[in-house]
Amino acid sequence: MDVAQLVPLAGVAIQCPAVPGRACPAKEVVVTVDNATATPVVIGGTRGGPSAPTLRQDRWWLQPLVTVTILTAFIVYSTWAIFVNKDYYVGATLHRDLISPFYSPCIAASCVPGSVGTTVVASWWHITPALIVMGGPLGFRLTCYYYRRAYYRGFWQSPPNCAVADGHRRYTGESRFPLILQNIHRYFFLIGLIFNVILTIDAVMAFRMPGAGGIGFSVGTLVLCVNAVLLWLYSISCHACRHLCGGNVRSFSRHPLRHRVWKLLTPLNARHMQFAWASLVFVAFTDLYVRLVASGVITDPKIF
Ligand code: FES
Repeated sequence: MDVAQLVPLAGVAIQCPAVPGRACPAKEVVVTVDNATATPVVIGGTRGGPSAPTLRQDRWWLQPLVTVTILTAFIVYSTWAIFVNKDYYVGATLHRDLISPFYSPCIAASCVPGSVGTTVVASWWHITPALIVMGGPLGFRLTCYYYRRAYYRGFWQSPPNCAVADGHRRYTGESRFPLILQNIHRYFFLIGLIFNVILTIDAVMAFRMPGAGGIGFSVGTLVLCVNAVLLWLYSISCHACRHLCGGNVRSFSRHPLRHRVWKLLTPLNARHMQFAWASLVFVAFTDLYVRLVASGVITDPKIF
């Protein structure tokens, strides 16, 4: 039976031609969910599914295309921002205390004056200090359940979208090296919390206007605050966070506090995708804003 001629989806049978450009057979055949033959997916075996790449006629390719475009733009920009190693801090000379999230905490000997926290931990480090700290946030994002779905679809075509054939002939899931390492996401979640605390401290410190009257609120302060809030929303909407708070519980009635937290997190968890994209784009925007102020391209307007 040639399934390229059929649309056995959602219990609806659509007659040929289902795929534009494909020739119809002399005799049309109709298949429903009831009489369609399922091909089981086997770990390590041949990918299941129909022989036709897809029977979908909507713009299923748009979602993976947008994913690839945004993630590629972010990777290119962040790589440049990390290695350019300048203009990541706005200090007392401009009466501000703004640091790029890519360089915080700045703990290397090579950090520009004023950007260093209380201690230089990596006194032996003399190349870009962003490289020391990027591992935590990068690992958190890379192993995120949502991003995994997004980049598996976008970059690996595995599969590109629902009801679209996998770009690879074999399917191994995440049961083998290296993808089995994705399971360490729950630990990266905890590391991500440490960075959230640090970036929240940066946002609080951005209220300082050194040499210009102590405390104030500028656009830069607002940008760092929004960045911190979005990062917290991204973290607390994480699936690992929801499981940590409400998982492994046999009876919620015996754990009312965990139940309350779980109920609080569940609607946030449903919006994890939105928080993932918003926080990703905004973290790059925050770096760009600090960079533009630090390099003198723009001034940071004081609101009050
Ligand atoms: S699932 Fe996305 S951050 Fe945990």
